[in-house]
Amino acid sequence: MRIVTKSEDMQRLSIEYKRQGKTVGFVPTMGYLHEGHTSLINIAHKYADVVVVSIFVNPIQFGPSEDYDRYPRDIERDKEILEKMGVDVMFYPSVDDMYPKGFTTYVEVKGLSDKLCGRYRPGHFRGVTTVVAKLFNIVMPDVAVFGEKDAQQAIIIKRMVRDLNFPVKIIVGPTVREPDGLAMSSRNEYLTEEERKVAPAIYQSLLLAKGLVEQGERDTSKIIAAMQEFLSKYDRIKVEYIEIVDKEELNPIERLEKGEALIAIAAYLGKARLIDNISVKVGGDNG
Ligand SMILES: Nc1ncnc2c1ncn2[C@@H]1O[C@H](COP(=O)(O)OP(=O)(O)OP(=O)(O)O)[C@@H](O)[C@H]1O
Ligand SMILES: [Mg+2]
Repeated sequence: MRIVTKSEDMQRLSIEYKRQGKTVGFVPTMGYLHEGHTSLINIAHKYADVVVVSIFVNPIQFGPSEDYDRYPRDIERDKEILEKMGVDVMFYPSVDDMYPKGFTTYVEVKGLSDKLCGRYRPGHFRGVTTVVAKLFNIVMPDVAVFGEKDAQQAIIIKRMVRDLNFPVKIIVGPTVREPDGLAMSSRNEYLTEEERKVAPAIYQSLLLAKGLVEQGERDTSKIIAAMQEFLSKYDRIKVEYIEIVDKEELNPIERLEKGEALIAIAAYLGKARLIDNISVKVGGDNG
């Protein structure tokens, strides 16, 4: 596996792969890898000849009082995992390489970036779209893979790619979960033993909601109330938001009609801010 730390070198390498007629698959990450990440790498291997994984804890997507400094990092372990997975290139740039002095250009997907998590993390998605746009220009992937766990992020990236004509195909991989249902996340590392025990309740609340939809409930305020009530039994879980939205504009839906909706939740468990979501499909008036 090649380890590349300079954007210029990465660009040169990708141009060389293309010259050789190879397609490039790309998985951007913030490292501290888990099986959610490795599932995306496996998908990238299926779609492309060469796989590039970036590891970059992106400072501009963290708010001033967020966890940038204490975000979990273990580059040696990440390197071993990527090596074992047959990844061709680990792109591991420095903050100075990505944001040189005088950096002042940002990419913003207006509207979508203020919904759901964006309401509570101002500037977060602007940081995400800016770094992903940069990474796309550096890695020049044919295919890039993102995780469904961060559903809003995937929707925003797809919109950015469409709006700005990035020549890349976006694939979204399913959420990988622990055996008890907790969505894998690098931030699960923050959980104490006690918090970890109750953490699966977040996913259980989503399953409860899905069950209600399957039983015919169409009133989203009732579904959200049932989730709130279920989660109120867990003192340690502090819900930030629960929303049921359409999957295009991320606007709240009052009554579920034919089509797909996203049920999204963010909750604090101690220091950890965890997110999860589930999609529900309604077939028509009765089903
Ligand atoms: N459990 C998961 N299943 C599938 N994809 C995931 C999962 N967790 C993260 N991903 C995806 O991995 C990519 C990199 O995400 P990132 O490095 O931020 O990991 P993370 O676990 O989400 O970290 P954190 O929760 O601390 O933000 C994103 O596309 C994200 O959606
Ligand atoms: Mg993440």
